[in-house]
Amino acid sequence: MYTRTTHSPAETRRLGRWLGERLQAGDFVALVGDLGAGKTHLSGGILTGLGVERTGGSPTFTLLWEYEGRLPVYHWDVYRLHSPDELDDLGYEEYFYGDGVNLVEWADRVAALWPEEYLRIDLTYGPGEEERVLTFAGTERYAKLLEDLNDADFSA
Ligand SMILES: Nc1ncnc2c1ncn2[C@@H]1O[C@H](COP(=O)(O)OP(=O)(O)OP(=O)(O)O)[C@@H](O)[C@H]1O
Ligand SMILES: [Mg+2]
Repeated sequence: MYTRTTHSPAETRRLGRWLGERLQAGDFVALVGDLGAGKTHLSGGILTGLGVERTGGSPTFTLLWEYEGRLPVYHWDVYRLHSPDELDDLGYEEYFYGDGVNLVEWADRVAALWPEEYLRIDLTYGPGEEERVLTFAGTERYAKLLEDLNDADFSA
């Protein structure tokens, strides 16, 4: 487990971008945190790092955004999920257990469906207005990534 505090939305995005540049086919990133914790900012950075170019839109009103970056990217926000059936209807298995990159906001709500290997990122409010504490917990597949993250600097 590894913890990092960011001091601005921009820093969270830079961290996300760094991650996105390093994600690989089949990666699963589970984002967990309260309203306004920074999941979408972090996701935005990750998408940028994956080479996704986007045009507007808020991920709050549907469950899934699909993108083609340097890899296929599936960005989920399951906040409004009412029942797991909705994910079944979308054929989530093809996505979750496929070769694209999954990025899941409110992932704790579908924890039973995560693949065996995942990178979990918990986001919580820090003491300062613009501080967020990110806690990383990855399975074996992510060990090297988290080691590298430990040495990375996102302050500017
Ligand atoms: N260090 C920080 N990192 C990220 N966001 C921050 C930070 N400091 C302040 N913020 C603010 O916190 C809010 C984070 O919003 P964001 O949409 O990313 O959160 P979220 O976790 O996706 O929330 P929701 O679950 O409501 O979609 C933004 O208003 C952002 O400006
Ligand atoms: Mg969000």
